[in-house]
Amino acid sequence: MSETTKLQLGVCYYPEHWPEDLWGEDARRMAELGIDRVRIGEFAWSRIEPEPGRYDWNWLDRAIATLAGEGLGIILGTPTATPPKWLVDRMPDMLALDVEDRPRGFGSRRHYCFSHEGYRAECARIVAALAERYGENPAIAAWQTDNEYGCHNTTLSYSGSAAAAFRLWLAEKYGDVDALNRAWGTVFWSQDYRSFDAVNLPNLTVTEPNPAHVLDFRRFSSDQVASFNRLQADILREHSPGRDIVHNFMGFYTEFDHHAVGRDLDVATWDSYPLGFLEQFPFFPEEEKQRYARQGHPDVAAFHHDLYRGCSGGRWWVMEQQPGPVNWARFNPAPLPGMVRLWNLEALAHGAELVSYFRWRQAPFAQEQMHSGLLRPDSSEDVAFAETIMVAEETRALPGPDAGRRAPVALLFSYEAQWLFDTQPQGRSFRYIELAFALYSALRRLGLDIDIVAPDADLSGYRMAVAPSLPILRAAIIDTLAAFDGPLLIGPRSGSKTADFQIPAELPPGPLQSLLPLKVVRVESLRDGLVEEGGDFSIARWIEHVETDLDAEFSAGGRGIVLQQDLRRYLAGWPDDRLLASVLGRMAAEAGLETLALPADLRVRRHGDHVFAFNHGPDTIALADHVPDAGADGFLIGSAELPPAGVAVWRG
Ligand code: GAL
Repeated sequence: MSETTKLQLGVCYYPEHWPEDLWGEDARRMAELGIDRVRIGEFAWSRIEPEPGRYDWNWLDRAIATLAGEGLGIILGTPTATPPKWLVDRMPDMLALDVEDRPRGFGSRRHYCFSHEGYRAECARIVAALAERYGENPAIAAWQTDNEYGCHNTTLSYSGSAAAAFRLWLAEKYGDVDALNRAWGTVFWSQDYRSFDAVNLPNLTVTEPNPAHVLDFRRFSSDQVASFNRLQADILREHSPGRDIVHNFMGFYTEFDHHAVGRDLDVATWDSYPLGFLEQFPFFPEEEKQRYARQGHPDVAAFHHDLYRGCSGGRWWVMEQQPGPVNWARFNPAPLPGMVRLWNLEALAHGAELVSYFRWRQAPFAQEQMHSGLLRPDSSEDVAFAETIMVAEETRALPGPDAGRRAPVALLFSYEAQWLFDTQPQGRSFRYIELAFALYSALRRLGLDIDIVAPDADLSGYRMAVAPSLPILRAAIIDTLAAFDGPLLIGPRSGSKTADFQIPAELPPGPLQSLLPLKVVRVESLRDGLVEEGGDFSIARWIEHVETDLDAEFSAGGRGIVLQQDLRRYLAGWPDDRLLASVLGRMAAEAGLETLALPADLRVRRHGDHVFAFNHGPDTIALADHVPDAGADGFLIGSAELPPAGVAVWRG
């Protein structure tokens, strides 16, 4: 499908949950509300194929016809996240095993192992059956593969199928087992293998398993997700030409390489639950959880918008937008009035093509009965309904998506870095995703727009670039960094390992020494409360001892922390917000980028010649205090006084 000229709205709908005589009325109300797309089908396997080989298409034919009859485009999900009971009974070994080797049983969802060949064949069969039936149906606008790969901790499986597939993967990678022994350093603790068949999965060991073994298992598990997705995408492409193939990714989820999966998609989509994420994720301080309980953290949705925009060539959607209280976080408050509208306009500002609500009507039964929708269970309008009417109206006057546009700043994000640091943290507070998020937030507080890109992305056209950490610096990455001529910041632990998970012969930062003459000779992780003072900033969690002739731009505890040569900088510790503001501010100035000093609650985003401002906090903000030229020629939306959950848009 071609790109759209305005932000489209969508909704997730489950016709199989409702009496058929409601469908027509639902479709009519969706269309009236301004909904363009409706996602259906992703959990409906037991109703599509109630018995092995007996398909019941009638209800789905009628559901699609009813929705299409109101002009709604269908996003049809493949139902492979919920294999039916009869299938599990037929092949019980299709279940994933957890790290303790316990089967992850039937009765919820995602009860399958990505490596089970029999299950893959069943998926290929049901996807082909769906694609053959509906592939050319003009109502089908897009296909969603499966649902939230990895959700409920399901990327890693320790099953027999996974072990068999892992051995093949290793044989392919290393060719002969001695190469594996050398790469993993199996001489240590007498771990030498005599054949690939002798290698098990890295669980149930007495103490920590060999880290190279673990990292290869993580790489393998990620590849399995990508090939599982590709299996479906290839079938859908063959039978349904011209339709977008999408998958819905999650928030703060790093267990597989989303850049790799994204290569087989037309559009990366993600599921945005700002209040749930704030509550659920451990690294937000208590005072932020409190302050933003009804708004979500000001950078969480934006971080993922910018991350997923970089996962499939620039086109991206929000497939599931939180409409009210959810059911799955530790606490589930309601969004502040206006936040659902804000989240929509924020997605638009970051270039989304579509924002789709989860879900149309709250279900009165089963696991998610406490999860709100646009409608209450009795079909009356819930709070987000009115906000959606407003959004549908407002977005008509605002610019549509532009997949080709680059932000001035690139942030290099590596999934492999996350796996490597998970495997050998060396200090429990060294959390890669948190470091990446801290850099991202600091850039946003300077009012800068950011593209989060793959570590080997082409950096031409960017004005400045930051890499929170790139522990494995392959030659191609070094070449890209060497070619980049803007200000560049490379974070701690970069170049600290070879691709085989070994300390590089020349010591960290390994090949980065060709760009920055320095050597990391010792690293320390710092327990909570142990900090090194740097004057107006401090270093906690992690500090490196560096030998170099370079002058330190910033030092703490007598050690150089930011080491600079021309436009390149190395960061030899875990930075706090003050250090980040100083360093990134200097870099922006070197790049000729104008910066702001935004307060914690206010964010701005430029979209073409439109500028958006968002108030994520509980108090009214006077824009003129922070964004000097805001609304100089008048406001398209909002005004100079930004109330809580307020949005202002102007040309600038
Ligand atoms: C998502 C999932 C949906 C639904 C939703 C509830 O993770 O894709 O099926 O469970 O969460 O918030």
